[in-house]
Amino acid sequence: MPSRNAAQRTSAGEAWPGETLFSPAGTYLNTASYGLPPRPGWEALQAALADWHQGRTSWEPWGESTERARASWARIVGVGPERVAIGATVAGLIAFVAASLPDGSRVLAPDVEFTSLLFPFLAQAGRGVTVRTVPPRELAAAMDAGTDVVAFSAVQMSTGEVADLDAIVAAADAHGTMTICDATQACGWLPLDAGRLDVLVAAAYKWLLSPRGSAFMAVAPERLEAILPAAANWFAGEDVHASYFGPPLRLAGDARRLDTSPAWFSWVGTAPALELLEEVGVERIHAHDVGLANAFRAGLGLEPGHSAIVSVDLPDAEAPLAEEGIAAATRGGRLRTSWHLYNTEDDVARALAVLL
Ligand SMILES: Cc1ncc(COP(=O)(O)O)c(C=O)c1O
Repeated sequence: MPSRNAAQRTSAGEAWPGETLFSPAGTYLNTASYGLPPRPGWEALQAALADWHQGRTSWEPWGESTERARASWARIVGVGPERVAIGATVAGLIAFVAASLPDGSRVLAPDVEFTSLLFPFLAQAGRGVTVRTVPPRELAAAMDAGTDVVAFSAVQMSTGEVADLDAIVAAADAHGTMTICDATQACGWLPLDAGRLDVLVAAAYKWLLSPRGSAFMAVAPERLEAILPAAANWFAGEDVHASYFGPPLRLAGDARRLDTSPAWFSWVGTAPALELLEEVGVERIHAHDVGLANAFRAGLGLEPGHSAIVSVDLPDAEAPLAEEGIAAATRGGRLRTSWHLYNTEDDVARALAVLL
């Protein structure tokens, strides 16, 4: 039987890499909730689970996936691996930064921001940290000399709105504001340069096609010292395997000092997924994903956008789509579809056939 994606070709006529690497049961338009694993990630995970089941290996090779993944993510966001800390969740990594802000710090954030970025700052209210929120597109203009931190998503999870990074970074530079960007809904399809930001954080289980439980945070070297490694542990030690027992505290000098010890199987599935994304290339994925999103928008009579996430005013569409084997979501009372490298023009046609 020909692959359901067999019609898909790049402009150069080669087979698009999504063709053979994924196994969606139907049309999957819900990457903003979780991404599907590519075959190399899925197979690596099955092999590790089988080894675990029978006690056939030591844990060290599973741990090594973490370093492969760190190096790959660092390349994807354009910085060295020494800037990158690993953790399990966005909130868990941002908690270190929020808890290390000086008392009374003033934070600015979008009003629709996902709470894993917002709550860690709100939780610091007891020591005078305040959070002011504005609509996402007003973020740059709302910054002033009293803004210590701006915390925002590169792409909003409910609406797909892409932040104006140039304007936000320029305003932050002008006011001496620390920039903290959550790229969970961006990394994997939107080219990003972590070197422009003080902190860039991302969970890998969506557009980075990884299991739940792996996340990254790139920290500018000049910001690292002010962040307390409150979950200091053996894996964050300067020499990991000489950090098992007893004092003194002997943490890595670079961002690895903020690592939490890895949930092994998540990382086993993460490393091959990231390497695959690198191989395909984020620029190509960007063109593919936004191209499909815009074909879908055009079919609905909407102007083209810049996002791989399309949010439309169809509050009751999720169920009829599901009946036709099309997975999408409803967020903020609107239909949210997300387009990624396993999607094709056939998927656009299938979704439109239900909606029109
Ligand atoms: C923008 C954004 N950040 C973070 C997360 C996940 O956060 P956490 O890893 O803390 O569960 C999500 C999940 O939907 C998200 O959309």
